[in-house]
Amino acid sequence: MTQDLNQMREHMLTAIAAASGLDALDACRVEALGKQGTITALLKTLGKMTPEERLVQGPQIQGLREAVANGIAERKATLERAALDARLASETLDMTLPADAMPAGTIHPVSQVMDELAEIFADLGFAVATGPEIETDWHNFTALNIPETHPARAMHDTFYLQQGIDAKAAGTADEKTTFSLLRTHTSPVQIRTMLSQKPPIRIIAPGRTYRSDSDATHTPMFHQVEGLVIDKGITLGHLKWTLETFVKAFFERDDIVLRLRPSYFPFTEPSVEIDVGYTLVKGKRVVGGAEPDGWLEILGSGMVHRKVIEACGLDPDEWQGFAFGCGIDRLAMLKYGMDDLRPFFDGDIRWLKHYGFSSLDVPTLSGGVGA
Ligand code: DAH
Repeated sequence: MTQDLNQMREHMLTAIAAASGLDALDACRVEALGKQGTITALLKTLGKMTPEERLVQGPQIQGLREAVANGIAERKATLERAALDARLASETLDMTLPADAMPAGTIHPVSQVMDELAEIFADLGFAVATGPEIETDWHNFTALNIPETHPARAMHDTFYLQQGIDAKAAGTADEKTTFSLLRTHTSPVQIRTMLSQKPPIRIIAPGRTYRSDSDATHTPMFHQVEGLVIDKGITLGHLKWTLETFVKAFFERDDIVLRLRPSYFPFTEPSVEIDVGYTLVKGKRVVGGAEPDGWLEILGSGMVHRKVIEACGLDPDEWQGFAFGCGIDRLAMLKYGMDDLRPFFDGDIRWLKHYGFSSLDVPTLSGGVGA
């Protein structure tokens, strides 16, 4: 029996080494280890043996099975490597040749809207600021007057990172420096800007944000734009004028009516939610119209809370300001008429051809920000 097994091993390993391609190798595998395979049949005989026989035969048959399985895995890796090398050698690309076709892509509506926002706010004296997408607890929550026990933390459906969880368990976490979550909003850029720049401050911060949420109007990654103004003597009146000017420029019409609703955000006091009036055109909601048929909520805003200004080392009796935050994907949907958010992130070239913008059409205030 031992003799037979040794012969069988030799025979199988020779066949495996001689397999010239993945198909041939798979045939070897089926012959030895498949349902009707020789080794499979041997394994089945174990059940009918006496315990004494099994003690001797078991390890030998298992050893054979292992040797053959390892032989197949090694040969497979070798064949795959050779196939890749051959493919790389045959698919050379001469990067010095001129392109023979225009790229098929277009500017994504989200990129387009971000460019439009930057253009509109630049005209009002705002710079563009950025911050990291992997944030600390402190910048994303605490400094924005959302302490650890605040219910808003639960509402944000935060993605926490293992590195933060590990640091907490090890007792080495520091809420100001341990990057422990994916930012749930662009508001931490307010904090980073106030800490790194002296007022007066006027910035917008467009970017990616993350929440564990998914349906026709929510995706786990989405885009927001944050706005922040810090100066002396800033009032709610400045906020209203700025946002009205922005919304009119963005939707490219003057007959825009805004509705300010009292609301609550931990980082602003008072807080207001802003709705824009829409009119029904052939059953579709279109932003604008002097006499709105209804209202669409478009952004959250308010006067920056004293505690937030203090957390950034500024004196709230000297500096005041307003802030706002707004979903960019939603702005794009309202302006360009998409009603499902999910295709934004499918990378489907047909959708991009339909909704995308020419890379040569840069939004400008004089030429029209709508392209
Ligand atoms: N960060 C808020 C959110 O994601 C939006 C927001 C509301 C931002 C009010 C602001 C603000 O700056 O003042 O829901």
